[in-house]
Amino acid sequence: MTTLAQASPDLFAAAARRVMARCEELARVTAVPGTIERVYLSTEHARVNRLAAEWMREVGMRTRQDVAGNQLGRLDRVVAGAPDPDAPVLLIGSHLDTVPDAGRFDGIVGVLMGLEVARLLRTPLGDGRFGVSLPFGLEVVAFSDEEGTRFGKALLGSSAVAGLWNDDWWALTDADGTSLRQAFLEFGLDPGRIGEAARRPEQLVGYLEAHIEQGPELDRRGEALAVVSSIASARRFQIVVEGEARHAGGTPYDMRRDALLGASEAALAVERLCRAEHHIIGTVGQLEAFPGAVNIVPGEAHFSLDLRGEFDGTRDAVWDDLSRELDAIMGRRGLRWRSREVHSAAAVMCAPLLQDVVREGIASTGTIGADDPAVIFSRAGHDAMSIGAITDVGMLFLRNPDGVSHHPDEAVSAADVALGIRALAESVLQLGADHRAR
Ligand code: GLV
Ligand code: MN
Ligand code: MN
Repeated sequence: MTTLAQASPDLFAAAARRVMARCEELARVTAVPGTIERVYLSTEHARVNRLAAEWMREVGMRTRQDVAGNQLGRLDRVVAGAPDPDAPVLLIGSHLDTVPDAGRFDGIVGVLMGLEVARLLRTPLGDGRFGVSLPFGLEVVAFSDEEGTRFGKALLGSSAVAGLWNDDWWALTDADGTSLRQAFLEFGLDPGRIGEAARRPEQLVGYLEAHIEQGPELDRRGEALAVVSSIASARRFQIVVEGEARHAGGTPYDMRRDALLGASEAALAVERLCRAEHHIIGTVGQLEAFPGAVNIVPGEAHFSLDLRGEFDGTRDAVWDDLSRELDAIMGRRGLRWRSREVHSAAAVMCAPLLQDVVREGIASTGTIGADDPAVIFSRAGHDAMSIGAITDVGMLFLRNPDGVSHHPDEAVSAADVALGIRALAESVLQLGADHRAR
């Protein structure tokens, strides 16, 4: 099939139904019954990789789990009726790990849509083999850790593929004190081989990722699909505030060095400074007081900071301002503070060519707004951020009703998924046409 123009809408509707049913099936693979939680290198991670591999083989893909625990499926380019395993590939993917108490679609829907695109575009070769009649191969990748839920550092799976692995990360620990190195070994992976996950730029044609928007813009516009222009830069910190634990009744206010109040004032300063800057957003999502008793003035407080911006420079300037503000707050309260940066990712531009093919893909659906689709800057992080270090990246956003994400109410409609699959498949064909024309 070289064009989808005549394809029946039923084809995309059936593909979308399969995606929705599989999102439900994956949602049942959870560490915490009643909620969805799947973290890196867990038994749930292994189970969803097995399911994804099964579904990859069902569409004729050759599968492998790489040395970072990412699950991959590949359809080779077909040349003169024979597969060419050495041809560069277009990667299509997203992630299967989740935040705690997650929704069903963040990441997952992009992986499953990639599989449906592979199903639509595959070419039977006889004897059970399949390839693609494209000027490149097609690989679907289910990244293993995008959220950073377990070790604090996000994008571990895609960083390994992008060759960005940093050996300092081996010492990161989870909430139980298990190190990343130990977790690799327990999962059956060899930390010494991590470098083998890295792909070389010449092996790749580009990377496409479909994802729910995780914001309200498409819903407000009444449109199903958008082109992503760039992805926000992000930094994450763990901050410790030190004061003095003392008796809650006996310690007068002028003697208190209450670490929780310092951290609380810091959280308000995060809101104030970030709100004052265009396209900067900061969140304190974790806050804990120690020793954590009702009758003790907190002697220590720990909080997280997630800071994002459209441009690295503005984001860094806000962090510098915030650091000065924290010095002032803690100084006034007789507290000390220190921070540890646990994640840093630069802003990534989607490649103009891939923005164009995604735009053409959306146009092919003929849906509302398709001739002039929304172009959205992504405030959420994506695997495309790391993959951008080795190849061109492009992203397609799907409407996310009310913009709610990282929450069990996260949603996307089957109708929008059907449009998204059509747009993504057409984008791949457009990219193929562009390559042939060169
Ligand atoms: C990932 O979803 C992130 O943006 O934090
Ligand atoms: Mn997420
Ligand atoms: Mn995601």
